[in-house]
Amino acid sequence: MPKVAILGAGAMGSGLANALVEAGWDVNLWGTWLDDHLIDAIEEGRPHPRINVVISGKVRPFRSAGLEDALDGVDVVVVSVASQGVPKVTEMALPGIAKAKALWLTSKGFMPVDGKILLLPDGIRSIAKAADVELPPIVAIAGPVKANECAAGEPTATIFGCKSRDVAVEFARAARSEHYCIEATDDEVGVEICAPMKNVYAIMLGIADGLEEKTGKPHHNLKAATFNEAVREMSILSTALGADPATAYGLPGVGDLEVTGLSGRNKVYGVRIGRGEGAKGALQAMTELEQTVEGVPALPLAISLVEQSAPQIKDRLPLLYAARQIVEEDVPDYAAVLARAVLPPKP
Ligand SMILES: NC(=O)c1ccc[n+]([C@@H]2O[C@H](COP(=O)([O-])OP(=O)(O)OC[C@H]3O[C@@H](n4cnc5c(N)ncnc54)[C@H](O)[C@@H]3O)[C@@H](O)[C@H]2O)c1
Repeated sequence: MPKVAILGAGAMGSGLANALVEAGWDVNLWGTWLDDHLIDAIEEGRPHPRINVVISGKVRPFRSAGLEDALDGVDVVVVSVASQGVPKVTEMALPGIAKAKALWLTSKGFMPVDGKILLLPDGIRSIAKAADVELPPIVAIAGPVKANECAAGEPTATIFGCKSRDVAVEFARAARSEHYCIEATDDEVGVEICAPMKNVYAIMLGIADGLEEKTGKPHHNLKAATFNEAVREMSILSTALGADPATAYGLPGVGDLEVTGLSGRNKVYGVRIGRGEGAKGALQAMTELEQTVEGVPALPLAISLVEQSAPQIKDRLPLLYAARQIVEEDVPDYAAVLARAVLPPKP
């Protein structure tokens, strides 16, 4: 039976824990110093507070002080914390990661390292290099996965991306169950670009829904044009950074954007902006509700990534730059800014 340590007992770490139990894995679930209340619920057999699903009694929970025990003898380590926690948790777990056969990553985001914006796997590689630790292969996990449905055993399609296709296939086979079904790709870069970018674009999809609430008139055409432009831009950026252009049109791009644009914190934030709450006011309201909007910190990092690593495509990313005007500059004519970015120009 393969053994895994999942680091982060939040929604996704816990959802994956249930999926891997169903696939026959031996699962350790480690909670960070922020997760004691989540571990309490898991230990007491109560529904997980973030996803309202009971975590399998076969999952072994560990509190933050028990990291070494959680990592003992595992085949795979999964980093499943919010992107801002990835550097610290990776550093803490490096001795265990180095002994594993693979490091999986459900976290989504970009990592600034010495002023340069890196994709998460490259950020992790640079942390390991600085510590003189040799890493096992990294498997980037993405796709349209809502943690609550994954935890509850609802049908779920996901994708494992690893530079070695053989490794991606090996683990996609090993982790598959009747409900958790996994594609394999060697396009690590494409998977890792789509994962955080779709959070930014989901905000823009939410704005179209908010405009409907504000005006009483449907804005489905605008939303569909926004979806189309978002996918095109993910593909353009991925291609510029060496990825397969098709990845953005598969589970990590179209698939994840669809599910993220239906519900979730990025979309809700966009709806608030569309309703007319203002980008700053809407963010404050989300913060007061303890709702982290991952697309907001990802936006300036995405723009820096483009300007550092692919400046030649800037003009082909109007929706990304419109997001900056709306979210960071809080422009009052956000509806017009969005429409200009996504409607085709005069031929
Ligand atoms: N929820 C989903 O459906 C889903 C699906 C796929 C991927 N993801 C990704 O998985 C990651 C975790 O998301 P989630 O939904 O589980 O979030 P969550 O808010 O439920 O849990 C966040 C986890 O990160 C840890 N964390 C937060 N801030 C930290 C910090 N500063 N330092 C160290 N650890 C910190 C928390 O302790 C917790 O374990 C995110 O990057 C998210 O994009 C989520």
